[in-house]
Amino acid sequence: MKKWVVPLSDIDFRQEETLAVQQVINSGWLTMGEKTVEFEQDFGKFIDVKYAFAVANGTVALHMACLAAGIGPGDEVILPALTFVATANAVLYCGAKPVFADVVSLDDFTISLESIKKLKSPRTKAIIVMHYGGYPCHMEEILLFARENKLILIEDAAHAPGASLYDIRMGAWGDIGCFSFFANKNMTTGEGGMVTTNDGEMAEKLKKLRSHGMTSLTWDRHKGHAWSYDVVSLGFNYRIDEIHSALGIEQLKKLVEFNDKRKNIVQDYQTRFLSGIPEMKIPFLNHPGQSAYHLMPVLLPPSIDRIVFMEHMKTAGIQTSFHYPPIYKFSYHKGVINTKDIDLSITEEIANREVTLPLYPKLKMEEVQFVVNTIRMIFDILLKDQD
Ligand SMILES: Cc1ncc(COP(=O)(O)O)c(C=O)c1O
Repeated sequence: MKKWVVPLSDIDFRQEETLAVQQVINSGWLTMGEKTVEFEQDFGKFIDVKYAFAVANGTVALHMACLAAGIGPGDEVILPALTFVATANAVLYCGAKPVFADVVSLDDFTISLESIKKLKSPRTKAIIVMHYGGYPCHMEEILLFARENKLILIEDAAHAPGASLYDIRMGAWGDIGCFSFFANKNMTTGEGGMVTTNDGEMAEKLKKLRSHGMTSLTWDRHKGHAWSYDVVSLGFNYRIDEIHSALGIEQLKKLVEFNDKRKNIVQDYQTRFLSGIPEMKIPFLNHPGQSAYHLMPVLLPPSIDRIVFMEHMKTAGIQTSFHYPPIYKFSYHKGVINTKDIDLSITEEIANREVTLPLYPKLKMEEVQFVVNTIRMIFDILLKDQD
């Protein structure tokens, strides 16, 4: 494994996480139980929603959300192509058709309402928004459009725990919110996820979907609350376990601190770029709301070859990535999703020029300076070659 001088992301686990895991092991109860209940209550309170269900990962959170929304064969769901593949796969798992909308602009990589409006058809059942990099989508307008057109609104909030718009946290805006606690996320449990909702009927469906459609759980029976169970719908085993929930409880306590640190780092990057590398385009400079600062995306000048740039960064020991290859370009998805006649030109341009730079709470200002100085040097070499 390559040892990076500056990796793309890094976890911040302290003694509390170790102790919390140790406590679960000592308790002898490993499957969904007390810790999971506590994690759900804490997370639900933090997001300010009535119901929160901890699950195995963000992908199953999205699958459950689509099923609870009643999405099925014959339905269309509008979502961005500039997202992780799981957002679209959740729709495909239900036998429905993902329809890709473009994003707002080269300054704002969130889903465009104008594009959504053009794509709405009598078959549209739902919209899934994704708060790219932790930056809130334009929820007020999108929610209004969804309500006017009787569409379900699902938030893929994998990048956005703690982000808010008009003081409402992401994951509390739509009908259902989906979170991921994958290893590179703002708070992590290794693998893990959460589904949030304020709707009691959705909550009942989500609860059953998570655990085989059963009316009572092993934990309820252990506590003497139930003797037996019935299976009332086709469900799954999408549960989280106590070790992951214990990690989640501890990580959630630090999320605001983590996000504040991320914010300072992003502001440092922005200041350095604006003064030292004007050729680099920095998105989200005046974005509404409070970001969770999950990613540090930049757009390279069109004349620079991204792979050559990333190779130079790798040589300097700096890990970079790009978010995302648009889903319709994947071999599998090309065959099952038709994007003909849809204008995805902004998505295309971002997908060709975007690079994601290192960002994590423990990243030091000297390291940010090193990253920016290295980019300056690489630009000087690559742009001089073009003179
Ligand atoms: C935008 C987005 N949606 C969904 C997921 C899926 O989450 P998970 O990896 O926990 O299944 C991820 C994370 O990897 C993501 O970044």
